[in-house]
Amino acid sequence: MERALLVICICVAGYASFVQSDTRESNEFYTMLLRDSDPGLFPAREQPLKVTLGLDLAAIRQVDTTRDEVEIMAMRTIGWKNPFITQEDKAKHKGPISVDIKHIWTPDIVAYNPVHAPESLSPPLAVVNPDGETFYIPNERIRFTCNLEKFETDEGSNCTLRYGSWTRSGDKIGLIGNDVTTDSFQKNPRIELLNTYTEVQVKHYPCCSESYPSVVFTLNIRKRNALRSLFSW
Ligand SMILES: *[C@@H]1O[C@H](CO)[C@@H](O)[C@H](O)[C@H]1NC(C)=O
Repeated sequence: MERALLVICICVAGYASFVQSDTRESNEFYTMLLRDSDPGLFPAREQPLKVTLGLDLAAIRQVDTTRDEVEIMAMRTIGWKNPFITQEDKAKHKGPISVDIKHIWTPDIVAYNPVHAPESLSPPLAVVNPDGETFYIPNERIRFTCNLEKFETDEGSNCTLRYGSWTRSGDKIGLIGNDVTTDSFQKNPRIELLNTYTEVQVKHYPCCSESYPSVVFTLNIRKRNALRSLFSW
């Protein structure tokens, strides 16, 4: 009896220690969310679960034409809706809360053509709205491969950054690509960003009936050239 009580106390203390919400009301929402969340369980009532992916490009840091590599800084916006939040829960809670992603399921969207693991420059926190809309927006430095043969020509090179789910096919995760945003883009004195494109591409493999969608962000970049800017009227 006493032992059971002790175990319960320890559990409750452990639980409370990772509650980060700052108001009683959001605390309730947080407790409810964690009660119904299992980071390992795919949270879809209806499949595929819609997952949106966007890229907010902050800077192009480096273009390495000898290695065919480009390095950018960008915030990756990943959004989805937790379907297990009921109308009742929604009515009870107002503001969004911030949750460590280790406590909730997050889509396993990864870059397919990085040179090494992207460096995350932000805390691993997601924002969950009362209706279940969830956003995880890691700020990352990522270096990826790109054919830079045309980097010094007028048309420039199209550098593509491809993202998709590592383990789930299109009938589980329905990927939606948002346009690349450049509101906070810092100009590089040596590199010109001419255009950006977003496309969802779907692959099929001979083995399987499933489709494998990926979001392809294309950055059309070229070497900045003083002469060219002088004569391009
Ligand atoms: C870059 O991609 C866009 C869109 O697919 C295309 O219209 C354009 O011709 C491409 N440019 C180069 C240099 O490949």
